[in-house]
Amino acid sequence: MAFQFLHLLLLFSLIHLLPSITESKLTANYYQKSCPNFPHIMQQVVTAKQKATPSTAAATLRLFFHDCMVGGCDASVLIASNTFNKAERDSDINNALPGDGFDLVTRAKTTLELECPGIVSCSDILATAARDLVAMVGGPHYTVRLGRKDGLVSKVENVEGNLARPTMPVSQIISIFASKKLSVQEMVALAGAHTIGFSHCKEFSHRLFNFSKKSEYDPAYYPKYAEGLRKLCENYTKEPAMSAFNDVMTPDKFDNMYYKNLQKGLGLLASDNALATDKRTRPYVDMYAANQTKFFQDFAHAMEKLSVYNVKTGRKGEVRRRCDAFNILKT
Ligand code: HEM
Ligand SMILES: *[C@@H]1O[C@H](CO)[C@@H](O)[C@H](O)[C@H]1NC(C)=O
Ligand SMILES: *[C@@H]1O[C@H](CO)[C@@H](O)[C@H](O)[C@H]1NC(C)=O
Ligand SMILES: *[C@@H]1O[C@H](CO)[C@@H](O)[C@H](O)[C@H]1NC(C)=O
Repeated sequence: MAFQFLHLLLLFSLIHLLPSITESKLTANYYQKSCPNFPHIMQQVVTAKQKATPSTAAATLRLFFHDCMVGGCDASVLIASNTFNKAERDSDINNALPGDGFDLVTRAKTTLELECPGIVSCSDILATAARDLVAMVGGPHYTVRLGRKDGLVSKVENVEGNLARPTMPVSQIISIFASKKLSVQEMVALAGAHTIGFSHCKEFSHRLFNFSKKSEYDPAYYPKYAEGLRKLCENYTKEPAMSAFNDVMTPDKFDNMYYKNLQKGLGLLASDNALATDKRTRPYVDMYAANQTKFFQDFAHAMEKLSVYNVKTGRKGEVRRRCDAFNILKT
């Protein structure tokens, strides 16, 4: 009887431990012996690229976010489609992912393959690059534990439902993040990433033209801001590359201006604006607008959590030779 009880207890504690096993395989100094120059090389490649192309930081941060949300942080978003496999990248929501993020990962991978061939995964490169770039444009530094393997699956049909769209109601956005064990507060903190980068006109044009019978544009916009955006986007159907900064006040700086903007009708996307009006999210918008230190703390924690979401270790993945293809061609 007592033996059986002990047995059960053991089983119970094992089950309890299981979810943390993969995560605990990740360590901050994973490449210390196998590729000691990893952090240094990353810093060098990232700095050079960001200096030459300042849009890299936002491009890479978004790329990392889109990787993690679909099946975990396993570089599945980097896989190129081929005759046999239509990959995540081909999803319409990933179409606009800027080339600079991919290019940065390729550069880092090429340099690392020369230094320590077959050792560093593309998913660790992407996670580290995003972290280094956030700090480089003024954001908080946080720890990225390493040892991710690259995923063996990347299918376009896995994307839908895992990434939020600007037109989704807040409830739906909340539930997408909740499905990754990210809370409402963590979602609002992560959305602060829109303090950098830009969005194409088509992502918010519905707020600018023919908005309603009563108003040409969304009255939630600060009027002068709406007028400026209407002008900027006047030819967007003919010139689909037309874009606006996500943070109109300090577009290149990682700060809490995004939240201050939201309070003033300067939120670009409908989803940005909704965070400031929905009663579940507004308290966090107000808190982060008032306290950048708190935003940085919470953003850093949420990024650490996002960075280990559904990571693959051991034989659940591989270290890709090139980041855009699986090592073995799958048919
Ligand atoms: C809350 C739900 C979110 C929605 C609906 C959303 C939607 C979008 C959209 C539509 C764009 C513009 C894309 C384009 O036109 O090229 C964008 C840009 C961006 N998003 Fe989000 N996003 C969300 C959350 C996040 C999160 C959590 C992060 C990162 C942690 C993030 C990072 C970025 C960045 C950095 C850009 C700028 C990209 C660039 O300049 O190249 N977003 N987002
Ligand atoms: C607005 O709607 C009207 C009628 O529905 C249409 O004629 C007009 O071209 C639209 N304007 C824009 C800017 O889309
Ligand atoms: C839109 O197109 C018109 C006509 O070609 C041009 O005069 C105008 O400057 C364009 N607007 C923008 C914002 O590029
Ligand atoms: C801002 O947040 C930090 C970190 O949570 C906290 O220590 C500090 O007291 C807050 N400042 C104000 C003015 O509330």
